[in-house]
Amino acid sequence: MNKITAAITAVGGYVPEDKLTNADLEKIVDTNDEWIRTRTGISERRILKGEGKGSSDLAAPAIQELLRKRNIDATEIDCIICATVTPDMVFPATANIIAHKIGAINAFGFDLNAACSGFLYALTTGASFIESGRYKKVIVVGADKMSAIVDYTDRNTCVLFGDAAGAVLLEPSVDENGILDSLLKSDGIGKDFLHMKAGGSVKPASVESVLAREHYAYQEGKTVFKFAVKGMADVSAELLEKNNLTGDDIAWLVPHQANLRIIDATADRMGLSKEKVMINIQKYGNTTAATIPLCLWEWESQLKKGDNLVLAAFGGGFTWGATWVKWAY
Ligand code: UT7
Repeated sequence: MNKITAAITAVGGYVPEDKLTNADLEKIVDTNDEWIRTRTGISERRILKGEGKGSSDLAAPAIQELLRKRNIDATEIDCIICATVTPDMVFPATANIIAHKIGAINAFGFDLNAACSGFLYALTTGASFIESGRYKKVIVVGADKMSAIVDYTDRNTCVLFGDAAGAVLLEPSVDENGILDSLLKSDGIGKDFLHMKAGGSVKPASVESVLAREHYAYQEGKTVFKFAVKGMADVSAELLEKNNLTGDDIAWLVPHQANLRIIDATADRMGLSKEKVMINIQKYGNTTAATIPLCLWEWESQLKKGDNLVLAAFGGGFTWGATWVKWAY
């Protein structure tokens, strides 16, 4: 009998309507469109507005779109894994809130935090549930309302991030397609360079922590950049080598969208031309766990059964990884 693999059988995505352009940011902090575009590749990002709205409000419509496309009911879902660094609340898990919002009454769910690599970690975890034979329909969603943790007085970070969600459905396949290999890595050395200073158990929220603006994403960009360029390119090259693949075998690189220069370095290292790289950072910025599924969502109509995709990410932790997917439809 053929081995069971976890195939991606549907994709959904959601971006809020409101745009925050580089011109808008020029009015808020000391920055300019030219700097942002040349240093990052970003022109605009989407922002989720509205009182009482959180990451689950990005994830729910993304999953609902996917269910409509696959023509299945939310009650058929076995499990929801939500990758996020901006959960609706510290607890309960956002996955539980999403399940309630979409009517996935038979699903269990949990959140997974691996920052910008969260989607790859969640995808690999979800794939293992399918491969074990225990579950038949697993939703993996990356959802981040980054605007909730961005300091719009800090020009180093506020130009980078946006809000979005992207989701995939995993189902068993015996056709040797789906999630075929994954290399995931982490190194706690990254903690000092990309983190939120307060609000965790080390430094619970206090009047002082709020006044010191410690509940926002803090990043030492230059250091993270150096690790990211090497980490994402190395792990992608290692994945190819391990599976006896070359750039010629790869139809698409689906990179985390943090910085166009990091994406270009990874594509170069893999020997891929620009036409094979999914890039939408100019429209959405860095949406953390949502960047990779959002690319799959936008490029879905161009993907063909049997296409080899390499999904690659680098983020806070540090966490990084690359996943080989053979497209199933
Ligand atoms: O997704 C999770 C992982 N994160 C990443 O992968 C992000 C990695 N880092 C980066 O993408 C880049 O480091 C940034 C885009 C964040 C920054 O680009 P950079 O080329 O590393 O710039 P820098 O931080 O070294 O700053 C260069 C200069 C500085 O001025 P001085 O000290 O040279 O006078 C900054 O103050 O640019 C200045 N600067 C800005 N100028 C205009 C920083 N932010 C801005 C801004 N507008 N928004």
